[in-house]
Amino acid sequence: MKKIQLSQTGVEVSCLALGTLRFGTRNTYDEAARLMDMYVEAGGNFIDTANAYDRWCSQGKGGESEVTIGRWLRERGLRDRLFIATKVGFGYQDVADGLAAATIISECENSLRKLGTDRIDLFYAHKDDPNIPLEETLSAFNKLIADGKIRFFGASNYLPWRLADADAIAARKGWQSFACVEQRGTYLRPNPGANFSPQQIIDRNLMTYCDARGKTILPYTPLLRGAYIRSDRPIPSPYRGPDTDLRLAVLHEVTRELGANANQVVLAWMMYRQPPFLPVFSARNPKQMQENLGALDITLSAEQIERLDRAGNCVNDEPV
Ligand SMILES: NC(=O)c1ccc[n+]([C@@H]2O[C@H](COP(=O)([O-])OP(=O)(O)OC[C@H]3O[C@@H](n4cnc5c(N)ncnc54)[C@H](OP(=O)(O)O)[C@@H]3O)[C@@H](O)[C@H]2O)c1
Repeated sequence: MKKIQLSQTGVEVSCLALGTLRFGTRNTYDEAARLMDMYVEAGGNFIDTANAYDRWCSQGKGGESEVTIGRWLRERGLRDRLFIATKVGFGYQDVADGLAAATIISECENSLRKLGTDRIDLFYAHKDDPNIPLEETLSAFNKLIADGKIRFFGASNYLPWRLADADAIAARKGWQSFACVEQRGTYLRPNPGANFSPQQIIDRNLMTYCDARGKTILPYTPLLRGAYIRSDRPIPSPYRGPDTDLRLAVLHEVTRELGANANQVVLAWMMYRQPPFLPVFSARNPKQMQENLGALDITLSAEQIERLDRAGNCVNDEPV
């Protein structure tokens, strides 16, 4: 699997990150381990989790994903070959919601313990917290870097102006700031005004800000949970607008030309962007994993990329 530099960190990571939201809840340990093995066998090294995964699942309390990854790392002895991202910010069990310094510091310790490691490569703020001064949040992340507990920290579900504020505070203090941004994004564009709160989408403002500051954007839910290829999973309503049929028509046209499936083309289109997006995808079973990893074998021509970019009513000017 190709490696790309994550933002301006000087660190190279796989061009596709594996999301583990449902590992340890909807996927048993053995199933999850098999999926991680397949991803690693394909050359992947970038695993994405969160302290609270998967408190949103009926079988979950939060923490199951990190525990599952920790056991797998221990059994496989792979820790040093992997780049592990986790997150703090959503409350679960008796952990408070938000980004108070005390929560960031104590949840870092909890994640280190669950993952069975002495450092986290990338620690995200999972969502913005308007009730805590950005300075307090940034100060806590910088303390964790100084203490050697994390290498970098990122932002997830932030508005661009808040990232700009964070960067300004960090520059004034001589601190590190959010290295990269993980946000909701796919090929279809959500309708103007679509509200995914607390999730935030990748839009033009975010893209121009991150490109200018050299921050890699990591789209999550890139496959719309299978909706591009599954008859049992309709395109979610916030993505059904004037653009939808036009974009889907071009996506399926390019898919046919390549003899691929639409999931693969969506992931390839993201990886071909300049600077590249780094999609955080997932799969429930080995068949899905195999199909999605097929994105790595797709070659898009400049003409196909342009057709995919231009499809729809607005040219390069809308959320992705
Ligand atoms: N930062 C954040 O706020 C945030 C939010 C959400 C997710 N994430 C991260 O992003 C990762 C990916 O999110 P996601 O799972 O929503 O993304 P996704 O990749 O769009 O969806 C994965 C799901 O789509 C279906 N699918 C995938 N490949 C398929 C295939 N080849 N054929 C048929 N169905 C297929 C499966 O659904 P079924 O399991 O139903 O079969 C699979 O579980 C998460 O694991 C997590 O790490 C981050």
